[in-house]
Amino acid sequence: MKVKVCTKEKMDEEIANLFIDTVKANPKCVLGFATGSSPLGVYNNLIKAYNNNEVSFKDVTSFNLDEYVGLDENNEQSYRYFMNHNLFDHIDINKENTHVPCGVGDYEAKAQEYDNEIASAGGIDLQILGIGSDGHIAFNEPGTPFDSLTHVADLKESTIQDNSRFFNSIEEVPTKAVTMGLASIMKAKKIVLIATGLNKAKAIKGLILDLIDVKLPCSILRKHPDVTIYVDKDAYSKVLGK
Ligand code: GLP
Repeated sequence: MKVKVCTKEKMDEEIANLFIDTVKANPKCVLGFATGSSPLGVYNNLIKAYNNNEVSFKDVTSFNLDEYVGLDENNEQSYRYFMNHNLFDHIDINKENTHVPCGVGDYEAKAQEYDNEIASAGGIDLQILGIGSDGHIAFNEPGTPFDSLTHVADLKESTIQDNSRFFNSIEEVPTKAVTMGLASIMKAKKIVLIATGLNKAKAIKGLILDLIDVKLPCSILRKHPDVTIYVDKDAYSKVLGK
């Protein structure tokens, strides 16, 4: 696992370049996208590169990590809406080739198909991840088995609290989500994780220094052969004992 300590601006640029290089090397590649505030700068850079004719996403397939249960694509808080609004509507990706887990209707049955869909597409070439303050990745909360595939998960109180900043009130935050499992994420060929701010410092310290344990879901990443963790000074501060 590589760790890069740099500014948010620098990581947004480097990670966007990784995505662009991946698409240029294989225009039919499979990209793994995440939601939350962390990847937004990367997505803005991808949109800029597309507008400058540096890259085309027309043959790219994508898979997102997770979706809230109970929110459909027209709901502004759904992750499908987030992806359309913050990336897909601004580039030439074919929306039919973009996949976000389904959080309504027969979402449980669809969740069981998600890993097969990823495998049929050839597997994810490059996956971007954020991280929760409790060390969750996607919506794999502490205690999630390392061999988990896409499943329906209960959100922890701390995650509901963290994510309530995007909703009008905490009561509106869904308590369940469909999420790629930890084993699903580990199948990606290359993984980059972004963490900024003091709120992430404890999880980053655990990821870098502690034992690999289901209590800290992100710690499974240490077993992956190609992971780079991008952190700013604040997120890295507890590693230095500050
Ligand atoms: C949610 C998402 C995660 C994301 C996390 C952190 O819980 N399910 O995928 O990593 O939020 O979000 P942010 O980047 O806004 O801190």
